Amino acid sequence: MSQAFLSRLLDEATRGYRAGGRFAYHFARGKLAGDNLFRELLRRGVFPTRGHFLDLGCGQAVFASWLLAARRLFEHGDWPADWPEPPRVLGLRGVELMAKDIARARAVFAADDATVRIVQGDICATDFGRADVVTILDVLQYIDFARQEDILRRVHAALPAGGVFVTRIGDADAGLPFHICNWVDHAVTFVRGHRLPQLYTRSLGEWTALLDDIGFAVDSAPMSGRKPFANTLLVARALRAARPEAAAA
Ligand SMILES: C[S@@+](CC[C@H](N)C(=O)[O-])C[C@H]1O[C@@H](n2cnc3c(N)ncnc32)[C@H](O)[C@@H]1O
Repeated sequence: MSQAFLSRLLDEATRGYRAGGRFAYHFARGKLAGDNLFRELLRRGVFPTRGHFLDLGCGQAVFASWLLAARRLFEHGDWPADWPEPPRVLGLRGVELMAKDIARARAVFAADDATVRIVQGDICATDFGRADVVTILDVLQYIDFARQEDILRRVHAALPAGGVFVTRIGDADAGLPFHICNWVDHAVTFVRGHRLPQLYTRSLGEWTALLDDIGFAVDSAPMSGRKPFANTLLVARALRAARPEAAAA
């Protein structure tokens, strides 16, 4: 995979953000170019080749834009030979708390709203409906432990057997990288206009045990790129059925 290809993918994924203003455009470019999560999700082929997506805490929906751009390039024959086919997004619902992010996202997807729908809501209370893939990227740490668990159980209930849940967490057992990660998280959240947040973090072992208990089979991989962070990607596949205690919750 070449740098030239990544530049074309970045251009394709961010062009639409010009309609949302300078901040939206430059933020999208910075995030998609600077965070290896997005290209790793494609390179690793964690998603099915087609499906309905639910992105919880979607921000200005750069992940949705990235997926649609990837598929467009693939369909034009512009795709790395050593990357798996990117998913065909049959529908994507993004849920986000912040009105400004929603406005920036909607400016991009206005013309494409049959595929992508961005709704304002609190994922602690929103009905998740059904989806083949659920993503929660860098959001769970803002939500208290009891609500985190409730969200994860509802994510499981929203997925079919074999459905995929993808999230990124900070591993609270990782020492200094974890503390750097937390400090950056505080600073960024404050700059984005929130009050200084309390963060609710768990070790990788605790996240894995919780997801396993709910009824997922979990794979994990470090996902901080070259940054000194403790970010970890979790790819969790829903087992055949919710376990009895999960079903009763
Ligand atoms: C660090 S940003 C990540 C945004 C997006 N997932 C991405 O990867 O670009 C965290 C986002 O989660 C949103 N968020 C936090 N708590 C939320 C909640 N309870 N319901 C909906 N969105 C929430 C924030 O407003 C913010 O946009």
